[in-house]
Amino acid sequence: MASDTNRLLILPGDGIGPEVMAEVRRIIDWLGKHRGIAFDVTEDLVGGAAYDAYGSPLADHTMEAALEADAVLLGAVGGPKWDSLPFAEKPERGLLRLRKEMDLFANLRPAVVFDALAEASTLKLDVVKGLDIMIVRELTGGVYFGEPRGIETLPDGSRRGVNTQVYTTDEIRRVARVAFELAGKRWGRVCSVEKANVMESGVLWREEVQALHDEEFSKIELTHMYADNCAMQLVRNPRQFDVIVTDNLFGDMLSDEAAMLTGSLGMLPSASLGAADKKGRRRALYEPVHGSAPDIAGTGQANPVAMIMSFAMCLRYSFDLAEEADLLEAAARSVLGGGLRTADIMEEGKAKVSTGVMGEAIIGELEKRLAA
Ligand code: IPM
Ligand code: MG
Repeated sequence: MASDTNRLLILPGDGIGPEVMAEVRRIIDWLGKHRGIAFDVTEDLVGGAAYDAYGSPLADHTMEAALEADAVLLGAVGGPKWDSLPFAEKPERGLLRLRKEMDLFANLRPAVVFDALAEASTLKLDVVKGLDIMIVRELTGGVYFGEPRGIETLPDGSRRGVNTQVYTTDEIRRVARVAFELAGKRWGRVCSVEKANVMESGVLWREEVQALHDEEFSKIELTHMYADNCAMQLVRNPRQFDVIVTDNLFGDMLSDEAAMLTGSLGMLPSASLGAADKKGRRRALYEPVHGSAPDIAGTGQANPVAMIMSFAMCLRYSFDLAEEADLLEAAARSVLGGGLRTADIMEEGKAKVSTGVMGEAIIGELEKRLAA
């Protein structure tokens, strides 16, 4: 089914996922109407919603559609309703299957502090002002997928839980390459993060990143840091970082930490990319860093900015629509600059608005910019 249109698979998922995705749908409609950009949009289920409808957190037909699409947009997965399901049926498995089978090994998590929001950070203004870092997290390897894994019962009746941290040369080098290339378009600095002081996989990580650097990216400034130190440096002096490249588990933790520097998890987008094909296209999935926030689901309080910024990354990386991506990012920035806030980033003297009003305001700003 070859097609020239932009094929987009939308998976809103659970909790606040559908609410924040609805705001992206409005932007998609707006782009069609006012910029003549058509998307061939298919919508389906993932996570708990998919489990309820199909008996699996990701149905096979959805997996096939994801492999066919030019890009996948995902909201969030998970919630207490599905907490007691067997491991293989948990909502999170749906997301992990997508990442693994689409081979999305490079997860880009930019942490940018908008000037308008610098005060919303729990850190001091002078520590976070102007912050712009990019975490590149390895996404299809490491302890998330390593074998052996499982829980076994020992002869004495006690139990043993096992997961395996494992990385190969290729897995390390392909994600490091993404980090070096990104740094080349930014400030030219990469910090590679592992625990080479206690883990052999960390020793290999450090050696391979260094070797690739020396072979092909010697113009980039490369430093190495232990993950615990990195966690500390991120709150001590986050602006020392440009691009951070790290493994799946450390990347999961450090990106949540980096997200909070920006004021709220509700602000952070992400892009998960596979290898480039002959035409330079990469399989891709875009999702906010935040989760399904079941405590506020259905209340209209969710912040749609991370989801909308994820769509902006999608426009930029999957559809070569840099101009529209810039427009959308600028629109969100000026709406925040104008003082609108969802509950998660609310500050005194600002106007607290719902998910829908925030989305509407961003579209209003797009309209204003188009008219100008
Ligand atoms: C993330 C999330 C996921 C992860 C969960 C939902 C499986 O925390 O994308 O950071 O651990 O990778
Ligand atoms: Mg996480």
